[in-house]
Amino acid sequence: MSTVKDTIKDMFTNHFIPFEVLESFKIADIGCASGPNTFLFMSEVIDTINNLSNQNQNQNQALEISIVLNDLHKNDFNSIFSTLPSFLDRLQEKHGYEFSQKCFISGVAASLYERLQPSKSLHFVHSSSSLHWLSQVPKNLENKGHIYIAKDCLPNVFEAYKNQFYKDFSSFLNKRSHEILPSGRMVLTFMGRCIPEPSNNDCCCLWELLAQSLLDMVSQGLIKKEDVDSFNLPLYTPYHEEVKEIIVKEMSFELEKIVIFKDNWDQDDSDDKKKSGQDIADCIRAVTEQMLVTHFGELFLNNVFKRYAERIANHLKTEKTKFINLTVSLRKK
Ligand SMILES: C[S@@+](CC[C@H](N)C(=O)[O-])C[C@H]1O[C@@H](n2cnc3c(N)ncnc32)[C@H](O)[C@@H]1O
Repeated sequence: MSTVKDTIKDMFTNHFIPFEVLESFKIADIGCASGPNTFLFMSEVIDTINNLSNQNQNQNQALEISIVLNDLHKNDFNSIFSTLPSFLDRLQEKHGYEFSQKCFISGVAASLYERLQPSKSLHFVHSSSSLHWLSQVPKNLENKGHIYIAKDCLPNVFEAYKNQFYKDFSSFLNKRSHEILPSGRMVLTFMGRCIPEPSNNDCCCLWELLAQSLLDMVSQGLIKKEDVDSFNLPLYTPYHEEVKEIIVKEMSFELEKIVIFKDNWDQDDSDDKKKSGQDIADCIRAVTEQMLVTHFGELFLNNVFKRYAERIANHLKTEKTKFINLTVSLRKK
């Protein structure tokens, strides 16, 4: 979140945008989901802009803030909009009625790989934990017994995933390049990797353990092997050099910086590996459940995730594996 704050401060203090004459500052949170993080993000940007508009030598207290929240059509926008009144009440308590009347929050239900806003309308775009999700599973994937890239999968599986990410991330940059004003900024955080090897444990193990849990159901006769063979995740964790290469080739944005963050799967490194396994399995269930239900049906999901939690707990007893996140900061040319 500090990158978001620093970027907005930098936009104003270095006068990429003449702050004192700016009438409205328009922001998008892409892949916002419906949980608390999009509200944290909105709080952070609104507080930062409020501080700047009070501190700045050339005060601009007329500045209006517009925040567009985006996610897929099936996202629970109702939950976001029913939480908004209490969010706006808190804003009013913190910054006063006048300021709260100048904050406008709206939603756009569409894929981030499509156009979301009119041309040259956005100053700042943020996206967190969304861009590792591909627009689709790579076509014609032969990946029997796995659901993502794995140590012993065929080499063309890696190529197919990499190509799909190249296509999708380029398309995301191209669509945003029409919407963001010159010198506007983007801060994007998504899962990635910090070594070229695509099948190392930090990127693949989490998904391979889920594949093995599905295969456990096959051996119990609860799921068909063909159903596991034909299921693959629409996901890719890119190497940071791949991300750089796409940004340079696409040509719309200047890369300001890429920062790599590493977190242990069980962040508090607790001795209770069973609980850590359960927590991680719950987290992964939240983001994969809909896809699994669509492919396998609902019936065996509790069994699958019980096995998955056990497998993660056993893994944590012998290995420390990390989540790798990349934060990419970009400036529109
Ligand atoms: C793990 S959540 C991240 C939510 C929030 N940004 C955060 O940081 O906690 C990923 C979100 O990305 C959304 N997403 C995935 N693919 C998308 C797409 N093509 N277009 C828009 N949103 C997408 C999902 O629906 C989901 O809400």
